[in-house]
Amino acid sequence: MHSPDLIAANVERIAELFPSVVTESLDESGNPVRAIDFDALRQELSDHIVDGLRERYQLDWPGKRAARLAANAPIAKTLRPVREESVDFDTTKNLFIEGDNLDALKLLQESYLGKVKLIYIDPPYNTGKDEFVYPDDYSEGAVEHLARSGEVNDAGERLRSNPEASGRFHSGWLDMIYPRLRLARSLLTTDGYIVVSIDDQELSAMELLLDEVMGASNKLAVLVWDRNRKNDARFFSVGHEYMLVYARDKAALTEGQTRLREPQPGFAEAREFIADAIERLGENWEAVQGEWRRWTAGLPKDDERRKLGRFSKVGPRGPFRDDGNINWPGGGGPRYEVLHPKTGKPVKLPTSGWRFPTKERFDEVVREGRVIFGADETTVPRVLSFLFESDGLVMGSVHYSYAQTATTDFEGLMGGKMFDNPKNWKDLARLVEYLSGPADIVLDFFAGSGSTGHAVMDLNASAGSERRFVLVQVAEPVPEKSVAAAHGYGTIADIARDRLRRAGAAVDANSTPDTGFRVLRIDTTNMSSDPRPPDREAQGELDLHVDSVKTGRTGEDLLFQVLTDWGLDLALPIEVEQIGGIEVFDVDAGSLVLAVGVGAERERERERERERSFRGGRCHRGSATAASGVPRCRLRRRCSAHQHGAGVP
Ligand SMILES: C[S@@+](CC[C@H](N)C(=O)[O-])C[C@H]1O[C@@H](n2cnc3c(N)ncnc32)[C@H](O)[C@@H]1O
Repeated sequence: MHSPDLIAANVERIAELFPSVVTESLDESGNPVRAIDFDALRQELSDHIVDGLRERYQLDWPGKRAARLAANAPIAKTLRPVREESVDFDTTKNLFIEGDNLDALKLLQESYLGKVKLIYIDPPYNTGKDEFVYPDDYSEGAVEHLARSGEVNDAGERLRSNPEASGRFHSGWLDMIYPRLRLARSLLTTDGYIVVSIDDQELSAMELLLDEVMGASNKLAVLVWDRNRKNDARFFSVGHEYMLVYARDKAALTEGQTRLREPQPGFAEAREFIADAIERLGENWEAVQGEWRRWTAGLPKDDERRKLGRFSKVGPRGPFRDDGNINWPGGGGPRYEVLHPKTGKPVKLPTSGWRFPTKERFDEVVREGRVIFGADETTVPRVLSFLFESDGLVMGSVHYSYAQTATTDFEGLMGGKMFDNPKNWKDLARLVEYLSGPADIVLDFFAGSGSTGHAVMDLNASAGSERRFVLVQVAEPVPEKSVAAAHGYGTIADIARDRLRRAGAAVDANSTPDTGFRVLRIDTTNMSSDPRPPDREAQGELDLHVDSVKTGRTGEDLLFQVLTDWGLDLALPIEVEQIGGIEVFDVDAGSLVLAVGVGAERERERERERERSFRGGRCHRGSATAASGVPRCRLRRRCSAHQHGAGVP
């Protein structure tokens, strides 16, 4: 009934690496526990240890230790399904979790360990105005603490802004983000990625933090996104922000020959254009080429698709270019002999040697029709490349995406300014397509207005994929006098859910991707009290524990607690049936069957048993109540079990 004990998991991991350092000890309460013999571990690591006051390279701040503990501490919370806020609750594979993401990340540890391909987050940038949940400063006195901590929302989360004058401006923000990143890492697949948006306020801290949590060697890029111009700036108009991109394991990606590529801008339209031209003009390549050149030349100068015009010729394999360099890059390449196909004489060698390492490879490329020879052997052959056969482009590190465009698109969808600075869902869709496969899980645990969920739905619709999203957003109340409040939204989570509904309706028109989402709300455990050993129970209090489940909790609440505790996918399809008064949940066509209400049914069965024994001449104390209110035996003859007769109390 608690989230997993991550410290115990760490001990297991060390034990796997160094079995000899595992020992047994007693914890604070005198219970035996598995422990690590630190002296033995020290010997295993010999002189590769830094401790005490010795200098080292690291990011440190007051509170880091406590923040690390916060990441590992188990919690007694649960995820409660909210059908009425969900869309396609029973069948959707998408999740929307409402609550503090630190709790959410802990609750997801079993079900999504090593299963998430891409994490995208856009956390509070620490502007001094944005709100987030951060732990109490343990070094802070109670009075100061109380002065700060009145700001609790309806769900009981301690949301606070982090004013610059707080004296813990950077530390407070680091306290908040550090444990979350640590927990997030373990959810990633070995070939997964994490992308973090940030601006220059905390760029340096975030980069050092990610270096620590993800490993500096796993950094893939720091992308720059130009978003706006502010002419009122005094010194510089800093209009860009960043995305830090890290792999879970870059070495494994390199070993697995991973090469990230995306389609050239306008690729899909180019296919349509050529197909249409062939339909109208037949295989008259000169005519098709003429139309193709006119179309590409007519595109606006700043349109990315204009680059398609480099493929200036068109043939049976679509648009192609024949000016490719056949030189070995940098010089010193192989210098084998190649004969001209017509003259039969050796062709002129490229100055730095052939681009293809062996003659066999060269011949293979010629057979594939990707080398063009000159009229005779005096010119160096060239390489052909075909637009429709290219494996795409590697993504650049500088991007232009104006904040105003994202805002206008968002407001168009929502009918007003419900949320400040939403990310552009089309940019996120591009990123999701680049970094994940067609059936992968994408997680955003600072969901805001739900742009990442929208991006996944949109991408699934256009690419025909089945990516799934998991979003987490705390129930941050919207400001009282905001446009969102005027439109009846209570929290940012409400805005996000409505946005997803609208986005789903918009993409639904043309295709049928999963536009639903299952809403789960973080709450205290369903159990009415923490389990205690018998010797800690008082005899007189036993009846307080008759019901182990809190009142108001449903069968479905219990089902989700089981799914979470057992580490099952929280988006599995569920069917509910009533069998003899018992609510039976069939999860994933029989993978898990949970019957709720067995206790009540067993009670009814006992009642029936009493009735039967009554008819057979045996009574049961209390089974019949006289008008006086005192339970009396209603047997006419002598009770065979209790040796008493009718009317005996
Ligand atoms: C910068 S916004 C994300 C905007 C989002 N990318 C979009 O396009 O709409 C950060 C969000 O994180 C939320 N947040 C802050 N602290 C949180 C916490 N501890 N748990 C969950 N959400 C949190 C805030 O309410 C805010 O909506």
